[in-house]
Amino acid sequence: MSSPAVFGSRAEAAPPRSTHITSVHLIGPGRVGSAFLRLLVDAQFRLVAVTDSRRTLHDPVGLDVELLLRSRAHAHSQPAGARTAEIPASLAIHLVGADIVVDCTASGRTGVAAAVERARASFQTGAACVFASKSAPAAALENWDRVRLGLNAACGGAGRAILADEALAAGRVVEVAVVGNASTTTFIEHIEAGATPEEATNRVAAAGLFEPDPRDDFSGRDTALKLVIAAKLAGLGAPDPLTILAADSTVLEADLLRERAHRGATTRLVGRIRRGGTAHVSFEELALTSALAIPGDRVAYAFTLDDGSVHLHLGSCLGYNGTARAVLADVLELAARKAGS
Ligand SMILES: NC(=O)c1ccc[n+]([C@@H]2O[C@H](COP(=O)([O-])OP(=O)(O)OC[C@H]3O[C@@H](n4cnc5c(N)ncnc54)[C@H](OP(=O)(O)O)[C@@H]3O)[C@@H](O)[C@H]2O)c1
Repeated sequence: MSSPAVFGSRAEAAPPRSTHITSVHLIGPGRVGSAFLRLLVDAQFRLVAVTDSRRTLHDPVGLDVELLLRSRAHAHSQPAGARTAEIPASLAIHLVGADIVVDCTASGRTGVAAAVERARASFQTGAACVFASKSAPAAALENWDRVRLGLNAACGGAGRAILADEALAAGRVVEVAVVGNASTTTFIEHIEAGATPEEATNRVAAAGLFEPDPRDDFSGRDTALKLVIAAKLAGLGAPDPLTILAADSTVLEADLLRERAHRGATTRLVGRIRRGGTAHVSFEELALTSALAIPGDRVAYAFTLDDGSVHLHLGSCLGYNGTARAVLADVLELAARKAGS
């Protein structure tokens, strides 16, 4: 049984021997979260808590990451020295009071309100927030302080450059186009090269590219969430992901994809929104010369400005390990920013 109340106040919790190290609270130790934990083994951070859907493991001195990874491989047992609490994640965030909260929970249709509540709790405690999950940013990022925000992983490794692009925050963007779903791009590439749909699906799965529910890739929901995040960052309103119609994936028919390829064209799942317009996602035929006709090891965010110029941001942090690397890059940057402030 877990102990019900194990948290001290933040001041009580901080032990003298490691207060100089930035503390991290991981929410969602699934595939991406576990990959991030593996990267933390060699990083100079103090992992003070890990929260999954049932409980929070907590040790203010710092959890032993290697031990934690081994114990998770053995059916969620509890590392010695750590304490657990079965309390809501947002309450755990308050009680732990880490410097940086990392959200690696799924980006599904359910649990969005809870994801927003966790983010709100994190910002209220003064923490910075790093997101692999797209749920909370797509729902609420327009209300957040961008200085304490990490979206690199949620944007496939392009998030740091997008957040740093001053033209986007200056209200000059008139259109956003996103090819953000590497799963469908890679699927299409395999089909174009002669694979059957089953072979293509298996290869995308083996590369760790699918969302926890692969229907979110093919329906365009993953792209819709990324488009909404990009639209909000670019000042193109706050579209509701639920109002964006699903993409018609019946157009992914092998003969059509190969016929386009023989003509020197290709197909990509594209999310678009124009200033004053509505957001939509669809599988589009693209010329191979299009900036959006990127290969499956990339995602692309194209922001068209009011003078016709295009700011193109590419990301290449894909799959579980790549996404974890993008999370770590954000954690490093936010920790350095905090240290410098
Ligand atoms: N795969 C990629 O290439 C990629 C790329 C970019 C972003 N992402 C994003 O990364 C995120 C994680 O993906 P994944 O494949 O690692 O998912 P996953 O394996 O399904 O892991 C999800 C984790 O979240 C935990 N969780 C669920 N509900 C929770 C709650 N209410 N409070 C706290 N923890 C909760 C789960 O805990 P339990 O184990 O207890 O259920 C699990 O540890 C997703 O949002 C995905 O969109 C993935």
